[in-house]
Amino acid sequence: MSELHQRIRRTSLHEKIKTVEAVIPLFKNGMSIGWSGFTPAGYPKVVPIALADHVEKNGLQGKLKFNLFIGASVGVETEDRWASLDMIDRRWPYQTGKNIQAGINEGRIRMGDKHLSMFAQDLGYGFYTKENGGRLDIAIIECSAITEDGGLVLTASCGAVPELVQIADRIIIELNTSIPNFEGLHDIIEPINPPHRQPYLISRVDDRAGSPYVRVDTDKIIAIIESKLPDNGRSFSEQDDTSGAIASHIIDFFKFEVDNGRLPKNLLPLQSGVGSIANAVIGGLAKGPFSGLQVWTEVLQDTMLDFFDSGKLDFASTVSLSFSAEGFKRFYGNWDKYSSKVLMRPLSIANHPEPIRRLGCIAMNTPIEFDIYAHANSTLVGGTRMINGIGGSGDFLRNAYLSIMHTPSARPTKSDPTGITCVVPHVPHVDHTEHDLDVLVTEQGLADLRGLAPKDRAQLIIDKCAHPDYRPLLQEYFDMSKKDCLARKAGHEPQLLDRVFKMQVNLAKNGTMKIADWNL
Ligand code: COA
Repeated sequence: MSELHQRIRRTSLHEKIKTVEAVIPLFKNGMSIGWSGFTPAGYPKVVPIALADHVEKNGLQGKLKFNLFIGASVGVETEDRWASLDMIDRRWPYQTGKNIQAGINEGRIRMGDKHLSMFAQDLGYGFYTKENGGRLDIAIIECSAITEDGGLVLTASCGAVPELVQIADRIIIELNTSIPNFEGLHDIIEPINPPHRQPYLISRVDDRAGSPYVRVDTDKIIAIIESKLPDNGRSFSEQDDTSGAIASHIIDFFKFEVDNGRLPKNLLPLQSGVGSIANAVIGGLAKGPFSGLQVWTEVLQDTMLDFFDSGKLDFASTVSLSFSAEGFKRFYGNWDKYSSKVLMRPLSIANHPEPIRRLGCIAMNTPIEFDIYAHANSTLVGGTRMINGIGGSGDFLRNAYLSIMHTPSARPTKSDPTGITCVVPHVPHVDHTEHDLDVLVTEQGLADLRGLAPKDRAQLIIDKCAHPDYRPLLQEYFDMSKKDCLARKAGHEPQLLDRVFKMQVNLAKNGTMKIADWNL
C-alpha cells in the first residue's frame, strides 16, 4: 500500500483520492474559500499553486477571484502569488507579502483586520459570509493522516480549522506525505455556539481539553490530493545589538519582578509575537537565568528550539510551528525530543481571553510605534498603510498578566539612519490602548507603567524609551502640551491637536521625523 493509502486509515475514503487537475473546475469566480494554515505552516499548497498556474496559463487574472479566509498569513507562494494574479477579492484576517500588501493598499483587495481569536469565532458564526448563508463554498485543509473514524490529523498548525470545516459545504484534503504524521500533537476543541458554550478546562499549559483530531462530516470531503510540498518557512535576521539590548532589559525586568515576589522563579507562561525582536527575546531567555519555563503562544519560531535545547523550557502550547526551512529540518530530525514537549491548539482556544488570563501569560509583542501615553500602533504605518494586521497581539495584550511591547526606539529612512522615531506624541492609529499596556521597551530602556497616571507615564516613556535624537523634541512637546491643556483645565492627558502629528507629516514630506521646531 502506498504511503498515501496508509495514512488514510478510513479506507472508504480511498475512492476520493484525486489528481489536482480534477478539482480545478470546481472553483468558480466569487466563491468564499477557507484554508487551513497559520503563518507559513500547515497551509494547503498543491491546490492553491495549481489554481494560480491555471489563472496564469489561461489569462484569467481578475476573472477568477475569491474571498479568502485563513487563520492568519500563509506562504508567499500561495496567497501572495494569488494577490499578484488578482485572484483575491476579500481577505481576512491577517496576511504577509509584498504583493498582497500592495493589493490592499492600492484598493484592489478588501482586507478585514480582526483579533484572531474573534476572527475564528465570528467566522463560525457566519458573520463574514452573510451573503452566502454563513457558509464557505470550499475549505482546503492540509492533513498528515485521517483516522479510522474519519478524524483529521492536522499538520504544523491548527489555525481556524474547526470553524472552517463546520461552515464549509465541501472539503478538499491535501494529505502531505512528505512530513511526519503529527498524530497526538494537537488538542482540538470544537466550537459550540452561545449560550451553552462550556468552560475550557485548561489550567496548565500542557492540559488537554479536547481531542487530537478534527471531527468532520466525511460526506463533505469531495477530494483527497497527495501533497509532497514543504511549508515555506521564513527565516529571521540574526540578532543585532538593538534586539539584544531589548532582550536584556526584559530579562533584567523579570529578575526584578521575581526578587520582588510579583513573578514566580520560573516566571509565568510566555507569549512571544512575530518578528526578529521576539525571536531575540526568546533567544535571550534561552541563555538567561530562568528555568522550568513554559510557553503559551501562537507561533513557535526557531529560537524556541534553542530554548528547548537549553533545558530551560519545559513545554510549549502554540497555534503553529512557524519555523524557517532549517528550523523545520531540525524539528523533524529530532521528532521524539521536541514533539513530546509541544501541543498545538486552534487559535480560538490559544488566543481566547479565558486561558490567557487564567494562566497569567506574559505577553510580548512588537508594534510599529507607541506614544507617550502608551497607546500602540501595530498595523497601519502613517495611520493608513496596512502592514500585516493586528494578529493575536490584542488577544494577548488585553488579557495577559503582564503586557509588554518592544520596538527599536528609531528606524532608518532612506535619507536618515534615525529618520523614524518609534516613540511619538500620538500614534496615528490605535491598536492597543493605554488601558492594556504595562511595560514598554526599546534598546534605550524599559518603562514600567503599572500604577502610573498618564502624565507620569509620558515622562517615564520619554526618559526611558525615546532615542536621544528625539528625546528633546518629545520633551518640548510634552511640556508645551501640559502647559496649554492644564491652563485650559483639560490636562488629564495633554495633547496639542494642531501639532500632534507634525512629526509624521514631516516624515511623509522630508523623509525624517526630525522637525526643526514645534511652531505652526
Ligand atoms: N514608522 C514607519 N514605518 C514603519 C515603522 C514606523 N514606526 N515601523 C515599521 N515600519 C515599516 C517598515 O519600514 C517596513 O516597511 P516595508 O514593508 O516598506 O519594508 C514595515 O513597517 C515592516 O517592518 P519590519 O521591520 O519588517 O517589522 P518588524 O519585523 O519589526 O515587525 C510589525 C513589526 C509591527 C510589522 C510586526 O510585529 C507585526 O506585524 N505586528 C502585528 C501582529 C502581531 O503583533 N502579532 C503578534 C502576535 S503573534
